[in-house]
Amino acid sequence: MSTLTLDHVTYTYKNAQKAAVLGISCSFEAGKVYAIVGPSGSGKSTLLSLLAGLDLPTDGTVAFDGKSLAGLDLDRYRRESISMIFQAFHLFPLLTVMENVCFPMELCGIAPKDAKPRAADLLEGVGITKEQMSRFPSKLSGGERQRVAIARSLASNAKIILGDEPTGNLDGANTQNIIEILCSLAHEKGYCVIIVTHDMEVAEAADVALRMRDGELRAVQ
Ligand SMILES: Nc1ncnc2c1ncn2[C@@H]1O[C@H](COP(=O)(O)OP(=O)(O)O)[C@@H](O)[C@H]1O
Ligand SMILES: [Mg+2]
Repeated sequence: MSTLTLDHVTYTYKNAQKAAVLGISCSFEAGKVYAIVGPSGSGKSTLLSLLAGLDLPTDGTVAFDGKSLAGLDLDRYRRESISMIFQAFHLFPLLTVMENVCFPMELCGIAPKDAKPRAADLLEGVGITKEQMSRFPSKLSGGERQRVAIARSLASNAKIILGDEPTGNLDGANTQNIIEILCSLAHEKGYCVIIVTHDMEVAEAADVALRMRDGELRAVQ
């Protein structure tokens, strides 16, 4: 089953001379990790925002499980179907690690007594200890914070993970750890993982490597 399908997708920012994303047709499937590489300004972040439903294409369609995003409730699509991982983590500094992971579940109406054990499972799954769960994010290393951000992004049950440089700022060992987590989510749990990266280690570990250039997307040979 194809999860996200792009059909001749073009996006041009208002007042821009040329398209940031140009005529992209491709499919992103469940169970695979995709890495997108390419120079700065080539349209990678714009493409991610189209996949996330933050913007609609100016031409062409992005479809989720066969339905055009243009016809979906986009707030709901973003909340239920997409999780995003950013380089800068975006953890809430005044909430503990546990509270950070519970927060999106509570937004979805899950009672705290149900959210907590699920958050603990997710955090354990990314190697965060019980003791670390009660700390504030500032009391964790960069790699630990990134793993918390991943656990939090999994809390929503969304099966599409979009990452904009999720391993930027991490050292080799932590990058490896994140790659393993993302690959096992795709291969064992059927997530569709799409990551923009500068990191060749990440691109090589992906099932499919793609390169963006001047708004166009090509397979890396
Ligand atoms: N909000 C915006 N308004 C106008 N142009 C933009 C905007 N955001 C990005 N662009 C332009 O779109 C192109 C692609 O940008 P972007 O998707 O951020 O590339 P990348 O993530 O690969 O660095 C660039 O030429 C950039 O200057
Ligand atoms: Mg970018």
